[in-house]
Amino acid sequence: MNTEAESAPDLRSPAVLDDPHPVYNHLREQAPVHWNASLGGWVLTRHADVRRALLDPRLSVEKMGRFEQRRSGGEGRADVAFLARTLADWMVFNDPPRHRELRRAMQNAFLARDVPGLETNVRAVVDELLDPLGAEGRMDLVADFAHPLPAIVIAELFGMPRGEREQLKRWSDQLGRFVLGDVENTAHDTKYGGAARAARAMAARFHALVEEHRRSPRDDFTQLLLRDGAHLSDDEIVHTLMFVLFAGHETTTNLIASGVLWLVRNPALTARLRAEPGRVADAVEELLRMDGPVQMVFRLAREDVEYGGTTIRAGERVHLVLNAANRDPSVFERPDELDIDRGRIRHVSFAPGAHFCLGAPLARLEARIALQGLLAHFSLLQLESEPLSWRPELVIHGLRALPLRYARAEERRDGRRPDPSERSS
Ligand code: HEM
Repeated sequence: MNTEAESAPDLRSPAVLDDPHPVYNHLREQAPVHWNASLGGWVLTRHADVRRALLDPRLSVEKMGRFEQRRSGGEGRADVAFLARTLADWMVFNDPPRHRELRRAMQNAFLARDVPGLETNVRAVVDELLDPLGAEGRMDLVADFAHPLPAIVIAELFGMPRGEREQLKRWSDQLGRFVLGDVENTAHDTKYGGAARAARAMAARFHALVEEHRRSPRDDFTQLLLRDGAHLSDDEIVHTLMFVLFAGHETTTNLIASGVLWLVRNPALTARLRAEPGRVADAVEELLRMDGPVQMVFRLAREDVEYGGTTIRAGERVHLVLNAANRDPSVFERPDELDIDRGRIRHVSFAPGAHFCLGAPLARLEARIALQGLLAHFSLLQLESEPLSWRPELVIHGLRALPLRYARAEERRDGRRPDPSERSS
Protein backbone atom coordinates (compact mmCIF):
# COMPACT_ATOMS: atom_id res chain seq x y z
CA MET A 1 0.00 0.00 0.00
CA ASN A 2 1.40 3.37 -0.94
CA THR A 3 1.47 5.70 2.02
CA GLU A 4 4.27 7.96 0.83
CA ALA A 5 3.04 11.48 0.40
CA GLU A 6 5.83 12.48 -1.95
CA SER A 7 5.00 9.82 -4.53
CA ALA A 8 1.27 10.60 -4.58
CA PRO A 9 -0.03 12.57 -7.58
CA ASP A 10 -1.31 16.13 -7.16
CA LEU A 11 -5.04 15.61 -7.69
CA ARG A 12 -5.62 19.38 -7.71
CA SER A 13 -3.38 20.07 -10.71
CA PRO A 14 -5.17 21.38 -13.84
CA ALA A 15 -3.62 18.60 -15.95
CA VAL A 16 -5.17 15.93 -13.71
CA LEU A 17 -8.52 17.75 -13.46
CA ASP A 18 -8.63 17.98 -17.29
CA ASP A 19 -7.92 14.26 -17.74
CA PRO A 20 -8.15 12.39 -14.43
CA HIS A 21 -8.62 8.81 -15.63
CA PRO A 22 -4.98 7.85 -16.32
CA VAL A 23 -4.17 8.85 -12.73
CA TYR A 24 -7.29 7.17 -11.31
CA ASN A 25 -6.45 3.95 -13.21
CA HIS A 26 -2.94 3.97 -11.83
CA LEU A 27 -4.13 4.59 -8.27
CA ARG A 28 -6.85 1.94 -8.44
CA GLU A 29 -4.28 -0.65 -9.51
CA GLN A 30 -1.19 0.41 -7.56
CA ALA A 31 -2.36 2.35 -4.51
CA PRO A 32 -6.10 1.92 -3.95
CA VAL A 33 -5.88 3.37 -0.42
CA HIS A 34 -3.23 6.06 -0.35
CA TRP A 35 -2.37 9.18 1.61
CA ASN A 36 -2.44 12.17 -0.70
CA ALA A 37 -0.53 15.26 0.35
CA SER A 38 -2.26 17.49 -2.19
CA LEU A 39 -5.61 16.74 -0.53
CA GLY A 40 -4.36 16.26 3.02
CA GLY A 41 -6.18 12.97 3.35
CA TRP A 42 -6.68 9.38 2.23
CA VAL A 43 -7.93 8.60 -1.25
CA LEU A 44 -10.02 5.52 -2.10
CA THR A 45 -10.46 4.57 -5.75
CA ARG A 46 -11.75 0.96 -5.91
CA HIS A 47 -15.47 0.36 -6.39
CA ALA A 48 -15.70 -2.06 -3.44
CA ASP A 49 -13.91 0.33 -1.05
CA VAL A 50 -15.86 3.38 -2.21
CA ARG A 51 -19.20 1.56 -1.85
CA ARG A 52 -18.28 0.23 1.57
CA ALA A 53 -17.16 3.69 2.69
CA LEU A 54 -20.40 5.30 1.48
CA LEU A 55 -22.30 2.90 3.73
CA ASP A 56 -19.90 3.08 6.67
CA PRO A 57 -21.40 4.96 9.67
CA ARG A 58 -17.91 5.33 11.15
CA LEU A 59 -17.16 7.83 8.39
CA SER A 60 -18.80 11.16 9.15
CA VAL A 61 -19.96 13.95 6.86
CA GLU A 62 -19.86 16.57 9.64
CA LYS A 63 -17.03 18.69 8.35
CA MET A 64 -18.19 22.22 9.08
CA GLY A 65 -17.05 22.40 12.74
CA ARG A 66 -13.58 21.33 11.73
CA PHE A 67 -13.49 23.81 8.85
CA GLU A 68 -14.46 26.67 11.18
CA GLN A 69 -11.80 25.66 13.71
CA ARG A 70 -9.09 25.57 11.03
CA ARG A 71 -9.98 28.98 9.59
CA SER A 72 -11.16 30.79 12.70
CA GLY A 73 -7.88 32.56 13.43
CA GLY A 74 -7.42 34.04 9.97
CA GLU A 75 -8.67 36.87 7.87
CA GLY A 76 -12.45 37.37 7.55
CA ARG A 77 -13.36 35.38 10.66
CA ALA A 78 -16.99 36.55 10.55
CA ASP A 79 -17.39 35.34 6.93
CA VAL A 80 -15.97 31.93 7.78
CA ALA A 81 -18.18 31.59 10.87
CA PHE A 82 -21.28 32.63 8.90
CA LEU A 83 -20.58 30.14 6.10
CA ALA A 84 -19.87 27.34 8.55
CA ARG A 85 -23.13 28.00 10.46
CA THR A 86 -25.17 28.11 7.27
CA LEU A 87 -23.68 24.97 5.77
CA ALA A 88 -23.95 23.15 9.10
CA ASP A 89 -27.72 23.02 8.38
CA TRP A 90 -27.23 21.30 5.01
CA MET A 91 -28.31 17.68 5.30
CA VAL A 92 -25.32 16.59 3.27
CA PHE A 93 -23.07 17.77 6.15
CA ASN A 94 -25.07 16.05 8.91
CA ASP A 95 -24.91 12.57 10.40
CA PRO A 96 -27.84 10.86 12.11
CA PRO A 97 -29.98 11.65 14.01
CA ARG A 98 -30.09 15.25 12.68
CA HIS A 99 -29.56 14.06 9.12
CA ARG A 100 -32.81 12.09 9.26
CA GLU A 101 -34.73 15.15 10.50
CA LEU A 102 -33.44 17.36 7.70
CA ARG A 103 -33.87 14.70 5.00
CA ARG A 104 -37.41 13.81 6.08
CA ALA A 105 -38.51 17.32 5.12
CA MET A 106 -37.90 16.65 1.44
CA GLN A 107 -37.97 12.88 1.16
CA ASN A 108 -40.51 12.84 -1.67
CA ALA A 109 -40.21 16.32 -3.05
CA PHE A 110 -38.32 15.48 -6.21
CA LEU A 111 -39.96 12.27 -7.24
CA ALA A 112 -41.42 13.09 -10.63
CA ARG A 113 -44.74 11.50 -9.67
CA ASP A 114 -45.12 13.99 -6.80
CA VAL A 115 -44.59 17.07 -8.93
CA PRO A 116 -47.54 17.36 -11.30
CA GLY A 117 -46.60 18.33 -14.84
CA LEU A 118 -42.86 18.24 -14.16
CA GLU A 119 -41.98 16.39 -17.36
CA THR A 120 -44.15 18.71 -19.48
CA ASN A 121 -42.63 21.77 -17.82
CA VAL A 122 -39.05 20.60 -18.40
CA ARG A 123 -39.89 19.94 -22.10
CA ALA A 124 -41.34 23.43 -22.40
CA VAL A 125 -38.14 24.95 -20.94
CA VAL A 126 -36.00 22.91 -23.37
CA ASP A 127 -38.07 24.17 -26.33
CA GLU A 128 -38.00 27.70 -25.02
CA LEU A 129 -34.19 27.67 -24.88
CA LEU A 130 -33.70 26.00 -28.28
CA ASP A 131 -36.52 27.51 -30.39
CA PRO A 132 -34.98 31.01 -30.67
CA LEU A 133 -31.70 29.70 -32.14
CA GLY A 134 -31.36 30.23 -35.91
CA ALA A 135 -31.44 27.55 -38.64
CA GLU A 136 -27.71 27.07 -38.20
CA GLY A 137 -24.95 28.66 -36.21
CA ARG A 138 -22.72 28.35 -33.19
CA MET A 139 -23.42 28.09 -29.50
CA ASP A 140 -21.72 27.38 -26.23
CA LEU A 141 -23.82 24.48 -25.05
CA VAL A 142 -22.89 25.12 -21.41
CA ALA A 143 -23.78 28.82 -21.26
CA ASP A 144 -26.67 28.71 -23.74
CA PHE A 145 -28.42 25.54 -22.66
CA ALA A 146 -26.96 23.24 -19.99
CA HIS A 147 -26.64 26.01 -17.40
CA PRO A 148 -29.94 27.84 -17.82
CA LEU A 149 -32.06 24.68 -18.06
CA PRO A 150 -31.70 23.37 -14.48
CA ALA A 151 -31.59 26.95 -13.15
CA ILE A 152 -34.99 27.72 -14.69
CA VAL A 153 -36.42 24.38 -13.55
CA ILE A 154 -35.27 24.94 -9.96
CA ALA A 155 -36.48 28.56 -9.89
CA GLU A 156 -39.90 27.37 -11.07
CA LEU A 157 -40.01 24.50 -8.57
CA PHE A 158 -39.24 26.99 -5.81
CA GLY A 159 -42.01 29.31 -7.04
CA MET A 160 -39.67 32.16 -8.01
CA PRO A 161 -40.07 34.41 -11.04
CA ARG A 162 -37.81 33.53 -13.98
CA GLY A 163 -36.40 37.03 -13.95
CA GLU A 164 -34.50 36.08 -10.80
CA ARG A 165 -32.62 33.20 -12.29
CA GLU A 166 -29.53 35.20 -13.33
CA GLN A 167 -29.25 36.37 -9.77
CA LEU A 168 -29.71 32.82 -8.47
CA LYS A 169 -26.97 31.62 -10.80
CA ARG A 170 -24.54 34.33 -9.63
CA TRP A 171 -25.16 33.48 -5.97
CA SER A 172 -24.82 29.79 -6.65
CA ASP A 173 -21.52 30.33 -8.54
CA GLN A 174 -20.09 32.44 -5.72
CA LEU A 175 -21.06 29.94 -3.08
CA GLY A 176 -19.61 27.21 -5.28
CA ARG A 177 -16.11 28.70 -5.11
CA PHE A 178 -16.10 27.85 -1.43
CA VAL A 179 -18.10 24.61 -1.34
CA LEU A 180 -16.62 22.90 -4.36
CA GLY A 181 -12.94 23.36 -3.62
CA ASP A 182 -12.03 25.86 -6.36
CA VAL A 183 -8.30 25.38 -6.91
CA GLU A 184 -7.83 28.57 -9.01
CA ASN A 185 -9.52 31.39 -7.10
CA THR A 186 -8.12 30.86 -3.66
CA ALA A 187 -7.74 34.50 -2.52
CA HIS A 188 -9.67 34.95 0.70
CA ASP A 189 -12.05 37.57 -0.59
CA THR A 190 -12.99 35.58 -3.70
CA LYS A 191 -13.34 32.26 -1.98
CA TYR A 192 -14.81 33.10 1.43
CA GLY A 193 -15.81 36.78 1.30
CA GLY A 194 -17.69 36.41 -2.01
CA ALA A 195 -19.34 33.18 -0.87
CA ALA A 196 -20.44 34.76 2.44
CA ARG A 197 -21.92 37.82 0.66
CA ALA A 198 -23.80 35.52 -1.72
CA ALA A 199 -25.02 33.32 1.15
CA ARG A 200 -26.31 36.36 3.10
CA ALA A 201 -28.18 37.71 0.05
CA MET A 202 -29.60 34.28 -0.75
CA ALA A 203 -30.76 33.75 2.83
CA ALA A 204 -32.56 37.12 2.84
CA ARG A 205 -34.31 36.28 -0.47
CA PHE A 206 -35.36 32.82 0.71
CA HIS A 207 -36.71 34.13 4.04
CA ALA A 208 -38.90 36.46 1.96
CA LEU A 209 -39.91 33.52 -0.30
CA VAL A 210 -40.98 31.51 2.76
CA GLU A 211 -43.08 34.46 3.96
CA GLU A 212 -44.68 34.81 0.51
CA HIS A 213 -45.65 31.11 0.63
CA ARG A 214 -47.09 31.46 4.13
CA ARG A 215 -49.20 34.43 3.03
CA SER A 216 -50.45 32.81 -0.17
CA PRO A 217 -49.85 29.04 -0.34
CA ARG A 218 -49.02 27.54 -3.76
CA ASP A 219 -48.47 24.18 -5.32
CA ASP A 220 -44.66 23.97 -5.46
CA PHE A 221 -41.52 22.61 -3.81
CA THR A 222 -41.23 25.43 -1.28
CA GLN A 223 -44.78 24.75 -0.11
CA LEU A 224 -44.06 21.01 0.19
CA LEU A 225 -40.92 21.78 2.16
CA LEU A 226 -42.89 24.00 4.55
CA ARG A 227 -45.48 21.24 5.00
CA ASP A 228 -43.13 18.24 5.41
CA GLY A 229 -40.52 20.35 7.22
CA ALA A 230 -42.89 21.76 9.85
CA HIS A 231 -40.50 20.37 12.50
CA LEU A 232 -37.66 22.58 11.18
CA SER A 233 -36.84 26.19 12.12
CA ASP A 234 -37.14 28.95 9.51
CA ASP A 235 -33.35 29.12 9.26
CA GLU A 236 -33.18 25.38 8.61
CA ILE A 237 -35.83 25.70 5.88
CA VAL A 238 -33.98 28.61 4.28
CA HIS A 239 -30.63 26.83 4.44
CA THR A 240 -32.24 23.74 2.90
CA LEU A 241 -33.54 25.86 0.00
CA MET A 242 -30.02 27.24 -0.48
CA PHE A 243 -28.59 23.75 -0.54
CA VAL A 244 -31.14 22.43 -3.03
CA LEU A 245 -30.60 25.41 -5.32
CA PHE A 246 -26.93 24.64 -5.26
CA ALA A 247 -27.13 20.84 -5.44
CA GLY A 248 -29.59 20.80 -8.28
CA HIS A 249 -27.86 23.32 -10.40
CA GLU A 250 -24.19 22.65 -11.00
CA THR A 251 -24.51 18.89 -11.10
CA THR A 252 -27.23 18.59 -13.74
CA THR A 253 -25.58 21.24 -15.94
CA ASN A 254 -22.43 19.17 -16.06
CA LEU A 255 -24.19 15.89 -16.73
CA ILE A 256 -25.96 17.43 -19.73
CA ALA A 257 -22.79 19.07 -21.08
CA SER A 258 -20.59 15.96 -20.67
CA GLY A 259 -23.39 13.89 -22.19
CA VAL A 260 -23.53 16.09 -25.28
CA LEU A 261 -19.75 15.87 -25.59
CA TRP A 262 -20.03 12.07 -25.69
CA LEU A 263 -22.73 12.34 -28.35
CA VAL A 264 -20.79 14.69 -30.63
CA ARG A 265 -17.76 12.43 -30.39
CA ASN A 266 -19.80 9.29 -31.13
CA PRO A 267 -21.81 9.73 -34.35
CA ALA A 268 -22.91 6.07 -34.25
CA LEU A 269 -24.38 6.50 -30.78
CA THR A 270 -26.06 9.75 -31.82
CA ALA A 271 -27.62 8.06 -34.85
CA ARG A 272 -28.84 5.20 -32.69
CA LEU A 273 -30.43 7.51 -30.12
CA ARG A 274 -32.10 9.55 -32.86
CA ALA A 275 -33.63 6.33 -34.16
CA GLU A 276 -34.50 5.05 -30.66
CA PRO A 277 -35.14 8.07 -28.41
CA GLY A 278 -36.56 5.69 -25.82
CA ARG A 279 -32.99 4.50 -25.17
CA VAL A 280 -31.83 7.95 -24.05
CA ALA A 281 -32.65 7.01 -20.44
CA ASP A 282 -30.12 4.14 -20.67
CA ALA A 283 -27.59 6.50 -22.23
CA VAL A 284 -28.03 8.91 -19.30
CA GLU A 285 -27.30 6.11 -16.85
CA GLU A 286 -24.15 5.15 -18.71
CA LEU A 287 -23.12 8.84 -18.95
CA LEU A 288 -23.47 9.11 -15.18
CA ARG A 289 -20.99 6.25 -14.93
CA MET A 290 -18.55 7.53 -17.56
CA ASP A 291 -18.45 11.19 -16.51
CA GLY A 292 -20.24 11.61 -13.19
CA PRO A 293 -20.63 15.31 -12.32
CA VAL A 294 -19.58 14.69 -8.69
CA GLN A 295 -16.02 13.49 -8.96
CA MET A 296 -15.48 12.77 -5.30
CA VAL A 297 -17.08 13.16 -1.89
CA PHE A 298 -15.23 13.23 1.38
CA ARG A 299 -15.70 12.04 4.93
CA LEU A 300 -13.96 12.26 8.32
CA ALA A 301 -13.11 9.07 10.22
CA ARG A 302 -14.85 9.14 13.64
CA GLU A 303 -12.69 6.25 14.84
CA ASP A 304 -9.84 4.13 13.47
CA VAL A 305 -11.07 2.18 10.43
CA GLU A 306 -9.35 -0.27 8.14
CA TYR A 307 -9.54 -0.11 4.35
CA GLY A 308 -7.49 -2.32 2.04
CA GLY A 309 -5.20 -3.36 4.88
CA THR A 310 -4.44 0.27 5.82
CA THR A 311 -5.51 1.86 9.09
CA ILE A 312 -7.14 5.25 8.70
CA ARG A 313 -6.91 7.07 12.03
CA ALA A 314 -9.77 8.83 13.81
CA GLY A 315 -10.01 12.45 12.63
CA GLU A 316 -8.37 11.86 9.23
CA ARG A 317 -10.04 12.88 5.97
CA VAL A 318 -11.06 10.23 3.45
CA HIS A 319 -11.80 11.10 -0.20
CA LEU A 320 -14.05 8.67 -2.05
CA VAL A 321 -13.39 9.08 -5.76
CA LEU A 322 -16.73 8.18 -7.32
CA ASN A 323 -15.47 8.63 -10.88
CA ALA A 324 -12.58 6.22 -10.28
CA ALA A 325 -14.91 3.59 -8.78
CA ASN A 326 -17.20 3.97 -11.80
CA ARG A 327 -14.46 2.69 -14.10
CA ASP A 328 -13.27 -0.20 -11.96
CA PRO A 329 -12.63 -3.13 -14.34
CA SER A 330 -13.48 -5.64 -11.61
CA VAL A 331 -17.10 -4.41 -11.80
CA PHE A 332 -17.47 -3.04 -15.33
CA GLU A 333 -16.31 -4.87 -18.43
CA ARG A 334 -14.46 -2.59 -20.86
CA PRO A 335 -14.88 0.26 -18.33
CA ASP A 336 -13.66 3.04 -20.65
CA GLU A 337 -16.22 2.20 -23.33
CA LEU A 338 -19.58 3.89 -23.36
CA ASP A 339 -22.08 1.07 -23.80
CA ILE A 340 -25.78 1.77 -23.40
CA ASP A 341 -26.57 -1.97 -23.43
CA ARG A 342 -24.97 -2.78 -20.08
CA GLY A 343 -28.31 -3.37 -18.38
CA ARG A 344 -28.25 -2.50 -14.68
CA ILE A 345 -25.31 -0.19 -14.07
CA ARG A 346 -23.92 -0.18 -10.54
CA HIS A 347 -22.42 3.30 -10.75
CA VAL A 348 -21.91 5.26 -7.55
CA SER A 349 -22.53 8.72 -9.02
CA PHE A 350 -25.48 9.41 -6.69
CA ALA A 351 -23.59 8.10 -3.62
CA PRO A 352 -25.63 5.04 -2.59
CA GLY A 353 -25.99 5.08 1.21
CA ALA A 354 -27.52 7.38 3.80
CA HIS A 355 -26.85 10.46 1.65
CA PHE A 356 -28.12 8.97 -1.61
CA CYS A 357 -28.93 11.93 -3.84
CA LEU A 358 -32.54 13.03 -3.30
CA GLY A 359 -32.51 14.82 -6.63
CA ALA A 360 -31.60 11.73 -8.67
CA PRO A 361 -35.08 11.35 -10.27
CA LEU A 362 -35.14 15.04 -11.22
CA ALA A 363 -31.56 14.94 -12.56
CA ARG A 364 -32.31 11.85 -14.66
CA LEU A 365 -35.48 13.39 -16.01
CA GLU A 366 -33.83 16.71 -16.90
CA ALA A 367 -30.88 15.02 -18.61
CA ARG A 368 -33.12 12.67 -20.59
CA ILE A 369 -35.42 15.43 -21.81
CA ALA A 370 -32.47 17.72 -22.56
CA LEU A 371 -30.73 15.11 -24.74
CA GLN A 372 -33.97 14.04 -26.44
CA GLY A 373 -34.74 17.71 -27.10
CA LEU A 374 -31.31 18.42 -28.62
CA LEU A 375 -31.57 15.37 -30.89
CA ALA A 376 -35.06 16.39 -32.00
CA HIS A 377 -34.16 20.04 -32.62
CA PHE A 378 -30.87 19.57 -34.47
CA SER A 379 -29.79 17.37 -37.36
CA LEU A 380 -26.18 18.41 -36.81
CA LEU A 381 -24.23 19.00 -33.61
CA GLN A 382 -20.50 19.28 -34.12
CA LEU A 383 -17.59 20.17 -31.91
CA GLU A 384 -16.30 23.61 -32.91
CA SER A 385 -12.87 23.65 -31.32
CA GLU A 386 -10.52 21.69 -29.06
CA PRO A 387 -8.91 21.33 -26.59
CA LEU A 388 -11.69 21.57 -24.07
CA SER A 389 -11.09 22.65 -20.55
CA TRP A 390 -12.67 21.27 -17.39
CA ARG A 391 -13.62 23.25 -14.31
CA PRO A 392 -10.84 23.82 -11.79
CA GLU A 393 -12.70 22.07 -8.96
CA LEU A 394 -12.07 18.94 -7.02
CA VAL A 395 -15.65 17.99 -6.34
CA ILE A 396 -17.47 18.93 -9.53
CA HIS A 397 -16.35 17.45 -12.82
CA GLY A 398 -17.68 19.60 -15.62
CA LEU A 399 -16.78 21.45 -18.80
CA ARG A 400 -16.14 25.19 -18.62
CA ALA A 401 -17.56 25.59 -22.13
CA LEU A 402 -18.65 23.36 -25.02
CA PRO A 403 -18.46 25.27 -28.33
CA LEU A 404 -20.67 23.62 -30.97
CA ARG A 405 -21.81 24.18 -34.53
CA TYR A 406 -25.41 23.23 -35.10
CA ALA A 407 -27.95 22.91 -37.89
CA ARG A 408 -31.61 22.69 -37.15
CA ALA A 409 -33.58 19.61 -38.17
CA GLU A 410 -35.75 20.27 -41.27
CA GLU A 411 -39.02 19.78 -39.45
CA ARG A 412 -37.91 22.33 -36.87
CA ARG A 413 -37.08 25.04 -39.42
CA ASP A 414 -40.74 25.63 -40.25
CA GLY A 415 -41.69 25.43 -36.60
CA ARG A 416 -43.21 21.94 -36.89
CA ARG A 417 -42.81 19.93 -33.70
CA PRO A 418 -42.00 16.23 -34.06
CA ASP A 419 -44.69 13.87 -32.91
CA PRO A 420 -44.38 13.45 -29.10
CA SER A 421 -43.81 9.70 -29.57
CA GLU A 422 -40.52 10.56 -31.29
CA ARG A 423 -39.13 11.90 -28.06
CA SER A 424 -40.83 10.05 -25.26
CA SER A 425 -38.92 7.33 -23.46
C1 HEM B 1 -26.58 14.49 -12.18
C2 HEM B 1 -26.92 15.25 -11.20
C3 HEM B 1 -26.59 14.97 -9.76
C4 HEM B 1 -25.58 14.24 -9.21
C5 HEM B 1 -24.49 13.45 -9.93
C6 HEM B 1 -25.74 14.31 -7.77
C7 HEM B 1 -24.91 13.67 -6.87
C8 HEM B 1 -25.07 13.70 -5.51
C9 HEM B 1 -24.17 13.06 -4.57
C10 HEM B 1 -22.91 12.31 -4.93
C11 HEM B 1 -24.68 13.27 -3.32
C12 HEM B 1 -24.08 12.77 -2.00
C13 HEM B 1 -23.01 13.66 -1.46
C14 HEM B 1 -22.30 13.02 -0.30
O1 HEM B 1 -22.60 11.89 0.07
O2 HEM B 1 -21.38 13.66 0.26
C15 HEM B 1 -25.89 14.04 -3.48
C16 HEM B 1 -26.67 14.44 -2.44
C17 HEM B 1 -27.80 15.21 -2.62
N1 HEM B 1 -28.31 15.69 -3.81
FE1 HEM B 1 -27.62 15.33 -5.65
N2 HEM B 1 -26.82 15.09 -7.49
C18 HEM B 1 -27.38 15.50 -8.67
C19 HEM B 1 -28.51 16.30 -8.84
C20 HEM B 1 -29.28 16.73 -7.82
C21 HEM B 1 -30.49 17.51 -7.98
C22 HEM B 1 -31.10 17.91 -9.31
C23 HEM B 1 -30.94 17.77 -6.71
C24 HEM B 1 -32.15 18.55 -6.29
C25 HEM B 1 -32.72 19.48 -6.97
C26 HEM B 1 -30.05 17.12 -5.78
C27 HEM B 1 -30.22 17.11 -4.40
C28 HEM B 1 -29.43 16.42 -3.53
C29 HEM B 1 -29.68 16.40 -2.09
C30 HEM B 1 -30.83 17.07 -1.35
C31 HEM B 1 -28.64 15.63 -1.52
C32 HEM B 1 -28.38 15.36 -0.04
C33 HEM B 1 -28.87 14.02 0.39
C34 HEM B 1 -28.48 13.75 1.83
O3 HEM B 1 -27.47 14.29 2.33
O4 HEM B 1 -29.19 12.97 2.46
N3 HEM B 1 -29.05 16.51 -6.47
N4 HEM B 1 -26.11 14.30 -4.83
